[in-house]
Amino acid sequence: MSKSLKGSATEAYDALSPFALEAEGAETPALSDRARPLPRISIQAFCETPQTAEALQAASEDRRLSKAHVTIQMGGAPAAVAHYQESPTPNLIILESHLPHGELVATLEELAQSCDPGTKVVIIGSTNDVVLYRDLMKRGISEYLVAPISSFELMECLSGLYNNPDSDPVGQVFAFIGAKGGVGSSTICHNVAWTLSEALATNIVIADMDLAFGTTGLDFNQDPVQGIADALQNPDRLDEVLLDRLLTTCSKHLSIFAAPVVLDRDYEMSPEGCETVIDVVRQNVPFVAVDLPHTWAPWTKRLLLQADEIVITAIPDLANLRNAKNIIDLVKTARKNDAAPHLVLNMANMQKRPEITPKEFENALDLKTLAVIDFDCENFGQAANNGQMVEEYNSKAKAPQAFRDIAMALAHRKEVKVEKKSPLAPLLEKLKLMR
Ligand SMILES: Nc1ncnc2c1ncn2[C@@H]1O[C@H](COP(=O)(O)OP(=O)(O)O)[C@@H](O)[C@H]1O
Ligand SMILES: [Mg+2]
Repeated sequence: MSKSLKGSATEAYDALSPFALEAEGAETPALSDRARPLPRISIQAFCETPQTAEALQAASEDRRLSKAHVTIQMGGAPAAVAHYQESPTPNLIILESHLPHGELVATLEELAQSCDPGTKVVIIGSTNDVVLYRDLMKRGISEYLVAPISSFELMECLSGLYNNPDSDPVGQVFAFIGAKGGVGSSTICHNVAWTLSEALATNIVIADMDLAFGTTGLDFNQDPVQGIADALQNPDRLDEVLLDRLLTTCSKHLSIFAAPVVLDRDYEMSPEGCETVIDVVRQNVPFVAVDLPHTWAPWTKRLLLQADEIVITAIPDLANLRNAKNIIDLVKTARKNDAAPHLVLNMANMQKRPEITPKEFENALDLKTLAVIDFDCENFGQAANNGQMVEEYNSKAKAPQAFRDIAMALAHRKEVKVEKKSPLAPLLEKLKLMR
């Protein structure tokens, strides 16, 4: 970033912030050095006072939060408890609560019932009390701030949560591989990633590792010029700014790291380079779906073994069974402390084709299948030709439910059935707020 730009953003902030005088001192680091940009996470805030809501609103408009999706509503902790009984939890919840210690803890326990383990919670309260602070930290609360807070204090706190080298990486990596070529592994990867981005309203990046023949661009009807090959050429240069330039946005929450799909260039695929690139993506995005080609090389093996979750797609025949068994055995031996990989049987129940049944697959592999997807050339074929996901093409098709099951299993979430709202809902909502 150029010096002048950095200067002006900082000055603008200094003028707004209660830190203004402090920041003039030579000892204090510049404001822009104290808060770093946040990754593409979703943040939902439940405020009790207009002051806190305003501070949050100002923070959400800052360039450092430009990649995060922030929603702010009133109602404090009780509103949050009610909200998450019906909706999935985001990456971060900010709760303003002026309840006394005991009541606050009771409400948090209620919230914990519907809170995903990966969700962080920050509390804004009114008592500067070390006993309360310690109790909250013990219960897994990420941070406790005392109101009134400035938008800068808030940004500094959030930045600390996500830019601390000691904290966990932001993103979960899911690797998808086929037991053979052409079994639908990429199709499943793309549909599951899209479903996850829609169902959880959380950002996900698909990294297309099939540099020569990848279909991610086609499946999402995009024609990207830049993509993953540029990153792999110089993995150590990849940072959040370059990543932004190389990603292609497909929808509000889904971006692709597309393959170049040219045959006249050779790419050096080193296991270290591939791992570095995926690591940078996972530092910036909550979910990364790695679409691996059906090849066996040191770099495919490395990406597979490093992933948080693995999905092996097979069609119900003998060669797929043998290959799936080999991959599963290798993965289980190399990852003794991880859960087993997931198996998806695809293109099942094709007319007149002799097939190995899911039960026989499960017995031979000693693994439960995560999903069985029927052969459905009409919906899959038409969706692929249109550059659409199967659910976009035909929401009544059978496969989208399987994609939702796979997505929720990978993200360790339960599917939340959102009730259809009446057309009067926005009006009623307004009236409730005005009371
Ligand atoms: N369940 C299914 N029924 C019918 N066609 C499918 C199904 N799953 C995938 N396909 C089609 O199979 C073809 C190969 O899929 P692809 O995802 O490219 O396989 P892979 O990545 O394993 O090589 C695509 O044309 C896709 O639309
Ligand atoms: Mg593929």
